[in-house]
Formats: sequence, structure tokens, C-alpha cells
Amino acid sequence: MADTLSTGPVHYERDGEIAVLTLDNPPVNALAKEVRVALARHLEKVVNDDEVTAIVICGAGRNLCGGADIREFNTPARDVKPMSRDLVNLLEDCPKPMVALIHGPTLGGGLELALGCHYRVAKADAQIGLPEVQRGVIPGAGGTQRLPRLIGLEAALDMITTGVPVNGEKALELGIVDAIVSGLRTAVAFARQVIDDNRGPRRISAMKVAGDPDENATIIANYRTKLAKTSRGLLAPFHCLESVANAVTLPFDEGWEREAEISRMAMASAESRSLVHAFFAERQVAKIPDIPADIALRPINKAAIIGAGTMGGGIAMSFANAGIPVTVIEASQENLDNGMQRIQGNYDATRKRGRLSDDEMAARLGRITPSTDYADMADADIVIEAVFEEMDVKQSVFAEIDRLARDDAILATNTSTLDVDAIAQATKRPESVLGTHFFSPANVMTLLEVVRAEKTSQDVVASVMAMAKAINKVGVVVGVCDGFVGNRMLAPYFRQGDFLVEEGALPQDVDRVIEEYGFRMGPFRVSDLAGLDISWAIEKRRAETRPADERFSPLLDSICQLGRYGQKTGAGWYRYEDGRTALPDPVVEELIVARSREMDLNRRPIGDEEILQRCLYSMINEGAKILEEGLAIRASDIDVIWLNGYGFPRHRGGPMFYGDTVGLRAVCDTLDRCHREWGDKWQPAALLRQLANAGSSFAEWDKRKVG
Ligand code: NAI
Repeated sequence: MADTLSTGPVHYERDGEIAVLTLDNPPVNALAKEVRVALARHLEKVVNDDEVTAIVICGAGRNLCGGADIREFNTPARDVKPMSRDLVNLLEDCPKPMVALIHGPTLGGGLELALGCHYRVAKADAQIGLPEVQRGVIPGAGGTQRLPRLIGLEAALDMITTGVPVNGEKALELGIVDAIVSGLRTAVAFARQVIDDNRGPRRISAMKVAGDPDENATIIANYRTKLAKTSRGLLAPFHCLESVANAVTLPFDEGWEREAEISRMAMASAESRSLVHAFFAERQVAKIPDIPADIALRPINKAAIIGAGTMGGGIAMSFANAGIPVTVIEASQENLDNGMQRIQGNYDATRKRGRLSDDEMAARLGRITPSTDYADMADADIVIEAVFEEMDVKQSVFAEIDRLARDDAILATNTSTLDVDAIAQATKRPESVLGTHFFSPANVMTLLEVVRAEKTSQDVVASVMAMAKAINKVGVVVGVCDGFVGNRMLAPYFRQGDFLVEEGALPQDVDRVIEEYGFRMGPFRVSDLAGLDISWAIEKRRAETRPADERFSPLLDSICQLGRYGQKTGAGWYRYEDGRTALPDPVVEELIVARSREMDLNRRPIGDEEILQRCLYSMINEGAKILEEGLAIRASDIDVIWLNGYGFPRHRGGPMFYGDTVGLRAVCDTLDRCHREWGDKWQPAALLRQLANAGSSFAEWDKRKVG
């Protein structure tokens, strides 16, 4: 190509009479202000250049454009002119045909930019979408107005209200792109063909949304009904719907103006702030302040798991799914066979649902080697123990691992409650030992608490965090304590549920409030699903150390004594006639009322607000204690744990962020009231009180502590 000119993040080249503008702003060619300014400048130049007949816009590196620049979020840079939405109009106004070459992830503002072009060509594997709704906002650069005009109302609503991208082939089918190309050369050839065919610019803003107005009105009404079910408690999908509907009823310019207003409103919502917080929290979590980013990692290319039970099997599948060979070791052939059968059954279920091909299933199973010989752990880079939750069993297993594992191997325990320091002591190399707390089902759940014990070395922590990413988990570094971070905070949350029912609520009241808040299941339904026998066993163990004056509810005890262990026995806090649907049960209500009487409590109606506050604030308070004790690095790490391991509603940002949203003063005052009434367990954590008194927040605390 001749006539090359590079200015900043946009390059200009000529291929004969076709101008090629290349966005070059690593890593994803985001629409930073420098890119916007440079693109507008180049555009002016090519419009005035008589030798240029058409323009191709493409991206350097792996994609066309990843959308808005997240580094500009909440900064004045975002408003530097031309703003993205004006830039898209500038492209569309260009009197010469503009062709966008879409490749790689071309999302949000990236796709909107392409919609401003007159033609679009894409590589077959491009990812094309408008994911704004997932951050609580709407496409704000004309996307809600142009996409329905281009591909019709229903298809546009599907893409915009879910945010789910499509590939190039699907985009061709939908009419988003005009052709599939192999790269720039074919894109330029396409532009040349447009000129040869004398097709000229084709502006989407000049089109009308296809279909009969009445039919379109029905589609919108049906969509609203559907969203009321699928997006309960969310605002952004409805904002998207409203804006897309304007594309049907209003002229382009008016719809475009309204889009900006709706976009501003959405951006200011707590929902959007929470979702953006979740996004940043998940990026932040991998950074461990005292561990250098360039520390030499121990490569993890082969794993061994001891124990092929519920967890061992799921953990082995996580490695196999990620292409890492894994040996599973059991004490007896029978247990090993059972474990392998469960793994096979799991894969088979996925295959039957059409989500796994025969070949892929065989490849994954092929990566799992069953064994009853401990010596087979000798070539593993990491050995993960997932045997019974008993200290002496774990310690003797670790003594064996110490004897047989390679000198530089990482030794991990999947314990959920035991002291990792004590387990490490069973070896002569405690610096290589840490906890990997997977969540059940381990092949599905994304959370991995990486438990840094007293002597764990930095490179071991960093290597396991990298491993977490490699096996598609979100690793969060936590310290050693009973329950680590997630389960430790779960305990006071569940306890509040019990106390609320003793005082006047019923399990279904508590669950309803929590589910309306956004959790998929409230605490009682979750307990029934997990199995009450497990919590009962933990309660019995805790009873030995519980102070005599501490408030404690024996309701779980009473329910388990009736043989009601939850969903698996057909009854727990609820009864399950069809094995799945939780139905309120008069037997449970009787037990609860009898308990209130025994406590001399006058049952009273308990409002939804009180239920929500007591459940969530006690959880937040425990989180503050965890921060105080240095067992989590950041408040936002705690949010990541709850978002990925406990179904905390993402649009609320996580418990700590929610505390900030409500205001820590209010949280602290409510806890103080509970403290006066119910004693020490409710005392606000010192950190919480200190932040509340200073009018500060967990977010500010994070910033001060880790920057
Ligand atoms: P499980 O009872 O399903 O499996 C334990 C397996 O270990 C059994 O198959 C048993 O045969 C095997 N085993 C026992 N001693 C052994 C030895 N010396 N050598 C080799 N294999 C041996 O238990 P599960 O649920 O898989 O739990 C395993 C660990 O994971 C426990 O520490 C548990 O606390 C923890 N955990 C469990 C979670 C859950 O939801 N089930 C969640 C997170 C952690």
C-alpha cells in the first residue's frame, strides 16, 4: 500500500483509491478520546481527498474495537468531543462509502461505530454484540436506534436486552454484516465492488424498522411481559426496551436524543454503579499487593487429586476441561470406580444436553487417570487433597504427600473448615502448602478461595492464582480462619434467618425478601438444597465452643431430629411433594411457634425492611471483621467472593459495596440497635464504626490500603 500516514492511535493508508483507517489503541482499540479525535481528523482528510473513493475502517491487533475505554469511566475524558455518538454520526454522514471490517470482539461502542458505517464485513469468528445491559446501561452511541432499523425489532431486542454477542456467521444471517471476509484484502475488494456497483453510502438512520406498526407494538408489549419475568428487579433491560421502542415510533433524530437521556439516567443508577464495581473488582482481585507482579511462577501442567468424592471429582473435571492432565487417587478400587463413574455420568449428562461432543467428552475423560497408588502423584506440579474433613485423616494424607510429591510441587488442601497451618505442619515444607477452597459443584462454580497460610511462600500463592485463571476460576486470596471468608460470613446471615423466624417471621417470608432483593434462593431454601444434615453436623461441632450466654437457635436441631434433611429427604424447612418445589409446611410453623413460646417471645409481624437489613448487615459486619483481621485484601475481594460463590445479585455489587450504597452510618446504627437488644454478637466491628464515624466507605478504605 502506498501513501502511509500515521497519527497517533489511528493509521491512514491507501490501497489505490481505497483509504484504510486502522484503529491502533492496544489492547482492544477502545474508543479513548485520542482515538476519537484522530479518527475524526482522518475522516475530514479522506472526504476532501478526491483520489479516495471509499474508506475501510479496521483495527490493528486482535479486533476492530472493544467499545468505550473503561479507563475513561467516570472521568471528564469521556465527554471530550467528538463523543462516541457524534463520531458515529460523522462516519454515517461521510459522502463516500464506508466499510467496517469487523474482527475479534467488536462490542458496545465498537459495534455502534460499525453501524455508523455504510457496509459491514466480518470474519466468521468475530464476536459482535451490544453488552451494555450487563453493566446496567444501554448502548448510547446510536445502537438502540440503528440495530432495530438494520435487523428488525425482535432480533435487535434479543441482542440488546441480553447483551449476548453473536459470531460473524450469525451476524450475516441476521443482516448485521453484508459479507464474511478473510481479512483486510477481501474487505478492500468488497469496498471496490461497492464502488464498481455504484451502490454509494447506505445510511441506517434513513431506514425504517421493518414490520407492521401494530405487530411491532405487540412485540414490544410481549417483550415487556417477558422481561418482567426474566429480569425481575433490574432496570437496564427495561431501559433498553424503551429506547429500542423509540426506534419504531420516533424519527431517528428524536430517538437518538432520547437514547442519550435514557443512557444518562441508566448510568446514574445504583444498578449500573454496582455492575461497574463488580467488573472492576474482578479485575483487581488478581493483584496481591505484597507479591511482585513479575515473580517467577511454578508452572502447573499436571495435577494430582487425592480423593474422588464429590469435590475431588469436580476438581479433576475442572483441570481436564481446561486441557490439564490430572491423576485421581483413591484409597480403594471401589471408591475410585464410584468416583470415576460419577465423573463419567456428569460428562454424559452434559453430552446428552448437546453441550459436549462425543470427541470432546472422550478427550476430557482421557486427561483423567484413575489410580489407587499414591506414588502416581510423583510427577504432579500440584497435589490437591480432597479427602474427609477430619484433621487426623488430612494430616496423615499430607505426611504421605510430603514423602511422595516432587520437591517443587505445590501441596494444596480443599478443606472447608480446618486449620490450614495445622495441615501444613504435617509436612517438612509448609512454604509449599496452601488451601484451595473450591465450591460445589467444583466443575461448575467459578469461585476459588486461595487460602494463604502463615508460611505459604509468595510464588506458591501467585502460581495458584494463575492456575485459577487457567482452569476458568476466579481466585481470591484469603487468610486462615474458620470458614475462610465466604462461609464465615454465611454463618451470621443464616443465623439472622433463624432469629427472625423465632421472633415472628416464617421461612417463606425471609426467603421471599431475600429473593426479591435478587438472590436466586433465600437462606432456608438454600439450606434445604444443600442438606440440613451438613449444617447440623457443623452446629454440633460449634456447640462445644459456643459461649453459654450467646443467643442460639435450636430450630435446625428440632427439624433434623424429625429426619427432615431438606430437599433430598422430601422435607426440611419446607416440604417437597414433587421433589423440587418448596412448599410452606404447617409442621415447621408449629415448631417455630412453639420455640417462640419457649423463649417467651411475643411473635410480631416483621417488616420486609427489617428482614433485609438484619440478614445483610450482619453479613457486612462479619466482612468488616474479616478486613480488620487482614483475612481479605480488599472489601471488593469479599464482593468478588459473594458474587461468584454465593449467588449474591450482581446488580447489587456484593455485600460490602451494598453497605457503601446504603451508607455505613445506617448499617452501623442498625447493628447498634440489634446489639442493645441481643448482645455482643451484633456489636458493629471497630472498622465499620470507624468508617461510619468518618463518613467514609469500604471503597475509600480499599483505596487507602491498597491503592
Ligand atoms: P466426600 O466424602 O464426597 O469425598 C471424600 C473422598 O475421599 C471419598 O471418596 C473417600 O473415599 C476419599 N478418601 C478418604 N480418605 C482417603 C485417603 N486417605 N486417600 C484417598 N482418598 C481418601 O467428601 P467431599 O464432599 O468431596 O469433601 C472433600 C473435602 O472437600 C472435605 O475436606 C470437605 O470439607 C471439602 N469441601 C467440601 C465441599 C462440599 O460442598 N462437599 C465444599 C468445599 C470443600
